Amino acid sequence: MSASTSPANRKILVTSALPYANGSLHLGHLLETIQTDIWVRFQKARGRQCFYVCADDTHGTAIMLKAEQLGISPEQLIAEVRAEHEADFAGFLIGFDHYHSTHSEENREYSERIYRAVRDKGLIKTKAITQAFDPEKQLFLADRYIKGSCPKCKAEDQYGDNCEACGATYSPMDLINPVSAISGATPVAKESTHYFFDLPACTDYLKQWTRAGHLQDEVANKLAEWLEGGLQPWDISRDAPYFGFEIPDAPGKYFYVWLDAPVGYMASFKHLCDTQFNDRNGFLFDSYWGADSTAELYHFIGKDIINFHALFWPALLHNAGFRTPTKVCAHGFLTVDGKKMSKSRGTFIRAQSYLRHLQPEYLRYYFAAKLGDGVDDIDLNLTDFVQRVNSDLVGKLVNIASRCAGFISKAGGLLSETLDHPDLWQRTVAAGPQIAALYEARQYGHAMREIMALADEANQYINDKAPWALAKQEGQQQAVIDICSQGLNLFRALMIYLQPVLPATAQKSAAFLNDSLTWDDVIQPLLAHRIDTFTPMMQRVEMKQVEAMLAEEKPAEPVAEKPAKADKKKAPAPAADDNALAPVIEFDDFAKIDLRVAKIVAAQHVEGADKLLQLTLDLGFEQRNVFAGIKSAYAPEQLVGRLTVMVANLAPRKMKFGMSEGMVIAAGPGGSDIFLLAPDSGAQPGMRVK
Ligand code: MSP
Ligand code: ZN
Repeated sequence: MSASTSPANRKILVTSALPYANGSLHLGHLLETIQTDIWVRFQKARGRQCFYVCADDTHGTAIMLKAEQLGISPEQLIAEVRAEHEADFAGFLIGFDHYHSTHSEENREYSERIYRAVRDKGLIKTKAITQAFDPEKQLFLADRYIKGSCPKCKAEDQYGDNCEACGATYSPMDLINPVSAISGATPVAKESTHYFFDLPACTDYLKQWTRAGHLQDEVANKLAEWLEGGLQPWDISRDAPYFGFEIPDAPGKYFYVWLDAPVGYMASFKHLCDTQFNDRNGFLFDSYWGADSTAELYHFIGKDIINFHALFWPALLHNAGFRTPTKVCAHGFLTVDGKKMSKSRGTFIRAQSYLRHLQPEYLRYYFAAKLGDGVDDIDLNLTDFVQRVNSDLVGKLVNIASRCAGFISKAGGLLSETLDHPDLWQRTVAAGPQIAALYEARQYGHAMREIMALADEANQYINDKAPWALAKQEGQQQAVIDICSQGLNLFRALMIYLQPVLPATAQKSAAFLNDSLTWDDVIQPLLAHRIDTFTPMMQRVEMKQVEAMLAEEKPAEPVAEKPAKADKKKAPAPAADDNALAPVIEFDDFAKIDLRVAKIVAAQHVEGADKLLQLTLDLGFEQRNVFAGIKSAYAPEQLVGRLTVMVANLAPRKMKFGMSEGMVIAAGPGGSDIFLLAPDSGAQPGMRVK
């Protein structure tokens, strides 16, 4: 008997890929967690022992550098991002059993254990390799941190090992005038010893494993090409400085982030076992991860990270004496209105922007309606989104309940003792096993179509019977109750089917139907059953809500091109909480800020302003008028003749007292403690600040 048809005693551990801890979640991430969460809620509704764990993926150079840019420790950065991620996921009703961090003791323990096991099997090799090194930052540079001109077509500012202009590929050291994108220094070639996992030694095992039903066919076929082409040893070490775990027997060498990232699945589950199940002897953990585990392990991932999950990960687990995944379920990428999400087009929609304007269940349903079991990309077409949510959820589903509930309440709240249309009820119940099989197979789109076809039938039935007309006739009260009882029973069956997708609406429905909405093998109707008062369950979605969300994601107008528009722009909303980081910006955004040394040549009080001083700043090549809120810390005469740092390319802003043509940079808690002046260090007005 295959796992998918075995009875209710299945034990299942499910994961979504671990989001990187250096940025906000966007709707692409949510495509994955919503897909996973629906599957988990379905399994739980069917009575399986099912756990859903995830974590933030916290290690690596990118996170280290981002923390440095922000002037905080990596630990602080990952703590803040984790809090944000967890809040966003909760906003989309993602029901993790535990959300952890790869920067955790559990993860260190299992990463080391796996490393030691494969090393003891002779699967770790060392080799000296030569790499680009930033002599200023004392840091080896991954390809993406090196830029220069293409050796072939001479296009400038090309990153890494391929040219976006002509498509040439090369070694980053072949770039003309290569520079470190981090410090601007010229990289040098430097040798160091790296640790490699002997993936080629696992070729036979992987050829068999990738064909043993753990992967989608299209994925297995793709991997077969790789396996035929020959696998390369996998470089699992990085040199200090690196934010991660030091390799136990190799001081100064760290596990590459992708070595310990999937171990985060184990770490998260381990934490769950220890803290929620007091699993002191490890029985629960081992029953899921031990080599002879009969539990199922499902990884939901995006198609970009298949190699890590379908080659490296099973090879590591197998050789370290753990079980391997039952299934790796890959999905495609989210596009918005047919195109790759893009910051410059304003279609890079962050989880938070969505939640500020729209209900999570709209997106859960929309994704469900579009998801299948393959790796095709999924398009969020915003017009279709509005239309489909309104027509299916509001127009079909919720409509059944709202048309029937009032009549029952008016008659005392008791449902009929018999069903008015047993055939229709039977058809609706009989669809249950097929709908369950579709959820199990991740064919949610097909499942949604089946459910909506049943909703159409239910609505048709109510239309035909027109209880609102009967209610006006003498002696038809029982008929009205019978029709509406039938309608509410159909609604309940549909809500049972939809609860994995619509957990909040299911909860409201359960309250109003005074029932637990349990998905038994055969759903029994509610007869002679008392219901509670109906409360509206879901609002229509309006295009203007979508537009408001998009307006938030619109990129700022380029400063230099359209300064005139700048004064119309709204001031940024004040941060709600001092500890919450503003939305993360890319290094490129930061690099747009032109910071210059400026000399304060005049300073004066501004009449009617209690915080502002008016400054005249000399950049050497021009003078600027700037209003600065520093009156609490400085008297004008303390300022004249001193140097400061200003944002020289900020669009002019019209203020109550005149035009402000830039901004001075100050630090400090405020009040009398604002530190404005750059030290008099020989800096000249107009100099760039680096
Ligand atoms: N940290 C790694 C995963 C480690 S798993 C042991 C990573 N992080 S990620 O934040 O870049 O992506 C997390 C998941 O979101 C991945 O499965 C990725 O495929 C998925 N998606 C990221 N952008 C996506 C879309 N635009 N569309 C759909 N899924 C996308 O990779
Ligand atoms: Zn080129």
